[in-house]
Amino acid sequence: MDVKLTTQPLLKSTEDAVAIFFLKDRIKTNEVIQKFPAELKTLLQAVIGECEFTAEADQVLPVHTKTDPRLILLVGMGDKAKFTTERMRLALSSAIKNANNFNAKNLAVSITAPDLDAKEVVMALAETAHLATYRFDKYKSEKKPFKIQSLVLADAPEKDFKSLTSALETGNVLGSLARETRELVNTPPDVCTPQYFADYAIKLGKEYGFKVTVFDKNELQKMNMQGILHVGAGGSNPPYLVIAEYKNGKGKKIAFVGKGVCFDSGGLDIKPASGMDTMKMDKAGACIVLNTIAGCAKLGLKGNFMAIMPMVENMPGNSAYKPGELIVTRSKKTIEVLNTDAEGRVILSDALFYASEQKPDYIIDIATLTGACIVALGNNVAGLLGNNQEILSKIKAAAAKRYERVWELPMDEDYYEMIKSEYGDVKNVVSNMPGGGAGTITAAKFLEVFVNSTPWAHIDIAGPAWALQEKGYFSSGATGFGLRLLLQTAIDLSS
Ligand code: BES
Ligand code: ZN
Ligand code: ZN
Repeated sequence: MDVKLTTQPLLKSTEDAVAIFFLKDRIKTNEVIQKFPAELKTLLQAVIGECEFTAEADQVLPVHTKTDPRLILLVGMGDKAKFTTERMRLALSSAIKNANNFNAKNLAVSITAPDLDAKEVVMALAETAHLATYRFDKYKSEKKPFKIQSLVLADAPEKDFKSLTSALETGNVLGSLARETRELVNTPPDVCTPQYFADYAIKLGKEYGFKVTVFDKNELQKMNMQGILHVGAGGSNPPYLVIAEYKNGKGKKIAFVGKGVCFDSGGLDIKPASGMDTMKMDKAGACIVLNTIAGCAKLGLKGNFMAIMPMVENMPGNSAYKPGELIVTRSKKTIEVLNTDAEGRVILSDALFYASEQKPDYIIDIATLTGACIVALGNNVAGLLGNNQEILSKIKAAAAKRYERVWELPMDEDYYEMIKSEYGDVKNVVSNMPGGGAGTITAAKFLEVFVNSTPWAHIDIAGPAWALQEKGYFSSGATGFGLRLLLQTAIDLSS
């Protein structure tokens, strides 16, 4: 999708379709429509009256004209009191889908929005253009590609054109990398094996200009990465540890860590059939942190950014790791395995400890870690936990900007008591008996053991990583949730 910014007024654009966004109680005073020629203004006002267009959120009224633009979409954004940038994202995704259904190739919208920062609006509209035109159709023999190919953002004030152009570029990077993330997460587990992911990372590093190092099984042995090796033992595709680095001048050193389970069958503690197909999403964390580094490179952010991605498949093979095993991790701390399906924290133990050894200012990990997080927060909000309020508040601020919502959960010491092991240092589940509670928190307390007091935040995306059905600018399947959040965090930390 090509997104352009122009100082021209909306109607001057020669696009096939134009969308006008309306707030509920401001239909008559809409600023964009005021600038239209009298004849068109009268026509639109008549249609609004006749069709009872009330500008409810997501209401779309198509108006076909005899002159250019041939299609004018009136799009509702609901009440002014509830108006946010996210409402504009949703209005644009409705407009894009409708324009596409009417076979329009190009769409134009105005960036004029009451009481919102123009840069935020441009960034949000640009990212939405990419997000709303993605679907996973690589394996469809008959594809229905989006007909719509470009979006024009009109009415940019002349004096702000330069700063808005840079907001547009950032929006384009956020949106297009979220799409790349979705495509990689959606890639089936027979294709996207740990080895495929490592090759993909090398390719991406060459394309964007960042360094990629890949450690194979033999090297992992030498590095005492027994957490990664144990979980990866049951799969016929061997485990890898992939590191991506982008350094540019002086600045904060940030280590991003992403859970990379290419397929989570549960291992010997095998999962039930229902929902197992979605477990190719268990590599979402790794896909996000890899694309975050690509974004840092593309935007030329100042700082030292690295992504640490332990890649495995969790399978019940002949040599699979077993309940009752005691794993001596790279940190020398030991893990008692009580359930092979709680594998994410086991591979992250080595990855987080390795991250702490790089002496970063912050570690941020992201993982589809616990089903309990879906119980607590549902499918639209990620769990946020950590040991340092400074980095947690940076993440909350970035989450608000990109509307990738997070909610902080407590990390009190009594939760740690729940994961102390009888025979080792920590156990990977509290108990196999249902009803223990606090599964997301106890998982985070487990991870905390391995960060070695480095300021750290953990984001549990088990809920929002995947959409069972199309909604707003998400198609069904991988959402890419977390990529925009982490890239925005990197942007904020670099300035
Ligand atoms: N990958 C899953 C968590 C998950 C569940 C992600 C649903 C996305 C959607 C994780 O490895 C897992 O299986 N966790 C177990 C932990 C339990 C055994 C303590 C879970 O959540 O049931
Ligand atoms: Zn699991
Ligand atoms: Zn998992």
